[in-house]
Amino acid sequence: MLKEQTIRKPEQKPYSEKDIGQSFMKNQFKVDLRTVSEKEYNRFITLNTVRDWSQLSWKAIGKPYEVKANSKERLDWEEQNNRDMDPHTSWTYFNKAFHEWFVKDVAGEMKESRTNFLKSLGTFKPTEIRTALGEIVKLQLWNYAHRIQDGIWDPRGKRAMFEGLHLKKPRILFLGAAEGYEAMQLGAMYPGAEIVMVDYDEYCKTTRFADFPESYPFLGENPRTGGSTVVYKDELNIEYVVDDIRNLDFGKEFDIVLSVGLLEHFPDEYKHEVADWHRRFLKPGGYAILTTPRNQVRSRLYYRVMADVMNHTYRELMTVEQMGLYMYESGFDILRHGYIKVHNGLVCQPR
Ligand SMILES: C[S@@+](CC[C@H](N)C(=O)[O-])C[C@H]1O[C@@H](n2cnc3c(N)ncnc32)[C@H](O)[C@@H]1O
Repeated sequence: MLKEQTIRKPEQKPYSEKDIGQSFMKNQFKVDLRTVSEKEYNRFITLNTVRDWSQLSWKAIGKPYEVKANSKERLDWEEQNNRDMDPHTSWTYFNKAFHEWFVKDVAGEMKESRTNFLKSLGTFKPTEIRTALGEIVKLQLWNYAHRIQDGIWDPRGKRAMFEGLHLKKPRILFLGAAEGYEAMQLGAMYPGAEIVMVDYDEYCKTTRFADFPESYPFLGENPRTGGSTVVYKDELNIEYVVDDIRNLDFGKEFDIVLSVGLLEHFPDEYKHEVADWHRRFLKPGGYAILTTPRNQVRSRLYYRVMADVMNHTYRELMTVEQMGLYMYESGFDILRHGYIKVHNGLVCQPR
């Protein structure tokens, strides 16, 4: 008789090694088990544009672009409370708003939004028509950015960024983990990984991570053969800590300290402190891996159209050169740098 954990209910774990090399469009997201050939590699990641970080200056590369369009929720809150929204509160609003988009049946809602728009035309009320049209635009953009392009999760780009670290059973600390996607991708690639996710918004543990689909397949390494395999969330070793990063009392015990979309939320006077969070818990020889959204025209447009979903906090868009210079100036050697669809990425080590 099969042991219970080896019985796969097809709807819970629908993909296996036979699906490697394929992609599938689901209602909420794309499944991408395509590997990248050497010939195609440059389509998914552009690597190492800077030769010598010591030669780069802020004068030459400029400072990041600050996204100024705030969400309506933030503006309303600030009016009611008569003060700026503090970062912790703003993250609780952001995480709720963002999560609602990940769980949308995008195809179904696009149909509904078109019907609502046609109905609104019949009302002859400009505000109703504008709102209905705004919904269509947001859904189309989300469909393109998340489902068609797969730009937010971007598994092929992230795998290209994370590969080749020569680590066995690494301990991975994910700072500001939200739903935890990138640590799970790393965990799939480095079998036997122990992952600790940290976020001070409890909703990230109880909802964003908890609701992350059990059926989502991560392309990873089969420890027995060294070949590719499919890994699911429940097969990974994950502890989720709800706390402020500033309160963590871990020692230098992690092989990888990771953050995705954290550094750009801190104005320059705090960047060194954030960089230091990536050094404090690293074993000697460990890697700090960071990604931040790219400063490109389509990203500026995305953050303007999706302001009500995305913009509760201070936010910058930057180039990989700017991102690398922050870390270089904070005492890190940049081992690998590059950009993928919508994010920049660095793999670095304390000097
Ligand atoms: C922009 S999100 C990360 C992006 C993520 N991939 C996503 O999909 O939302 C940053 C996360 O860091 C968390 N965070 C920010 N400052 C923190 C702190 N001091 N301690 C713990 N978590 C923090 C926020 O709650 C938020 O969930």
